[in-house]
Amino acid sequence: MILPIRLYGDPVLRRGAEEASGDSASIRQLIDDMIETMRGAGGIGLAAPQVGRTERVFVAELAAELRPAEAREQAPEALVFVNPEIIEESDEESEFEEGCLSIPDVVEPVRRPERIRMTYLDRHFRARELEAGGLAARVIQHEMDHLEGVFFVDRISAFRRRLLRRKLREVASGKVEASYALYAGPK
Ligand code: NI
Repeated sequence: MILPIRLYGDPVLRRGAEEASGDSASIRQLIDDMIETMRGAGGIGLAAPQVGRTERVFVAELAAELRPAEAREQAPEALVFVNPEIIEESDEESEFEEGCLSIPDVVEPVRRPERIRMTYLDRHFRARELEAGGLAARVIQHEMDHLEGVFFVDRISAFRRRLLRRKLREVASGKVEASYALYAGPK
C-alpha cells in the first residue's frame, strides 16, 4: 500500500525513531509499504518517519553496480535496513547534491563522509555489516539522519539556509505540489 509522505515541518520528522523490536507482522507490512511508496514516488531512499512511523527502519533503491558488495545478493529487491547503526565513517568527505521526498523541489549540496561502515538487520532480520562509499554511503547517511530527526537542509550553510527560508516555510504549511501523495491529516 502506498502511504502518504510527511512534509518538512511535520513533528514526526523531528522526533527521531526508536529501535524496532524485531520480526513482526507490523514491521513486515511497514517494509513492504515503504518500498512501494518509495518506488511510487521515484525516490532512492525512504525512512519510516517520512510515512509517520517511529521504527528505526529505512529502505533504499540502488542500481546493482552502486550497491555495496555485501548487499548485492539482495538484488533486485530494494535494500532494507532495520535498526541500522553507523559504526565508522571516513575522515575524507565529499559534497553532492541531495533532495528529499519530504522537501519537494529543493536540492542542495551537502558535505558528508565519503565512506561509512554500518551494522543493521536486513529484511529477513539477519544481522549484517556493510561498508559503503559514493552514492550508497550518501543515501544511507541521508536516511540515517531521518531516523535522528535531521534533514539534509540542517547540514547546509546558514547562508544557504537563509535563502531557502521562505521555501521551507511554504513546504511546512503544505503549499507545495508533488507527483506523489502527501500527508494532509492531523500531525
Ligand atoms: Ni529525505
